[in-house]
Amino acid sequence: MSRMEPMRIRPARRLSGQIHLPGDKSISHRAAILGAMATGTTRIRNFSSAADCQTTLKCLEQLGVNIERSEAEVVVHGVGKTGFRAAEQPLDCGNSGTTARLLAGLLAGQQFDSILTGDASLSSRPMGRVIDPLCRMGARIDSLNNRLPMTIHGGQRLRGVEHDLPVASAQVKSCLLIAGIFADDKTSVIEPFPTRDHTERMLRWLGGEVSATPLDREARIISIPSGTELKAQDINIPGDISSAAYFITAAAILPGSEISMTGVGLNPLRSGIMEILRYGGAEVSGGEVKEVCNETVGTVRVTGGMSNSRAPGTLRLSGAVIPGIIDELPILAVFGTQLDGGLEVRDAGELRTKETDRISAVVENLRRLGADVDEFDEGFRVGRSELKGASIDSFGDHRIAMAFSVAALIASGETEIAGAECVDISFPGFFDVLERSVERIDG
Ligand code: S3P
Repeated sequence: MSRMEPMRIRPARRLSGQIHLPGDKSISHRAAILGAMATGTTRIRNFSSAADCQTTLKCLEQLGVNIERSEAEVVVHGVGKTGFRAAEQPLDCGNSGTTARLLAGLLAGQQFDSILTGDASLSSRPMGRVIDPLCRMGARIDSLNNRLPMTIHGGQRLRGVEHDLPVASAQVKSCLLIAGIFADDKTSVIEPFPTRDHTERMLRWLGGEVSATPLDREARIISIPSGTELKAQDINIPGDISSAAYFITAAAILPGSEISMTGVGLNPLRSGIMEILRYGGAEVSGGEVKEVCNETVGTVRVTGGMSNSRAPGTLRLSGAVIPGIIDELPILAVFGTQLDGGLEVRDAGELRTKETDRISAVVENLRRLGADVDEFDEGFRVGRSELKGASIDSFGDHRIAMAFSVAALIASGETEIAGAECVDISFPGFFDVLERSVERIDG
């Protein structure tokens, strides 16, 4: 991605029309990786165009997997659990934490050594969260300071272990379930709060037996038996709710907007943003819901103008709801500037370990736009504010770039976003889709 001129965005009157979303990024990673581990051919429709998912495909190709790409589908010729071969070069995971962490689980079970690398952002993100539990299973992994690059030594016998995760992370859970496929006994993962369960659903779709049992109101234990064999199946990827979130929020805020999106992933552990927007007064509905390849899919419609807020004071988000909206917190921060009582987010320290420190990026950009905002160690508070166009930064983070493009639509005057090209990480064409759906104030 070459560095472009800053993106200039003028205020919008409203959004309208049908929005076409890329395929879900999280589910696409899993379809490619688990499809590669299956026996047989997996045809994946609506595979995400995100740069991160292309990174996963390239890494799998380096590991000897034959992948065909066309406009219509990605075809993964599965090699089974043991058909991978050593990559000749380090596996470059680019900006993608999901690629690095899920592949770590797969590579810990192989007979050969692998090296995982990443870009500057990914190389600063914590990997101890997968290295430590994988080593408890018997893996041998070298890294400096629990960061990439890391070398995963093959030829180790993996034990089935019960892992109690200190932080709720779907990437870590998925890494360990994938490693569990190679273990000599059942592997279990206890998560303190429910996180996205795409891996569990796709493992089942491909014939795996995965159980998920609540331990109390919030924690649950997820287990995979030893000896799991996956069998190829066709997979249809739903539209990415995390990409939809920017359009849903912008349309909800701007009176007169009317948008719809079909085939959107509405997995209950991903669609928390819809409920929160509704609670804040937005008119957002999900309909025509059906199950496709073990995932919930439906149509989302949004009518602009926030007329019926149920939030009497500050809208407070904390605890168990956080994992279900973790990627939506930057856009929810923007939404918070439009709420009478503002928005407060707690228990979201994980935001500091994302593609950038998203707490500091959100606070910095909101301040530059003139918002009333406080930063906490594990969250932030934003009061109702009139945003004024300013020069802001993506900090190289796709979700910051997209969230603040929406802020620019509702701000007065023009906003300049430096480094906005990073939207390609999850949503190539984001600015074109936005431009097509926006009606400007000055025509
Ligand atoms: C993801 C899980 C989340 C999320 C990330 C994608 C996944 O990360 O923030 O964008 O695909 O499993 P954590 O599992 O680290 O919370």
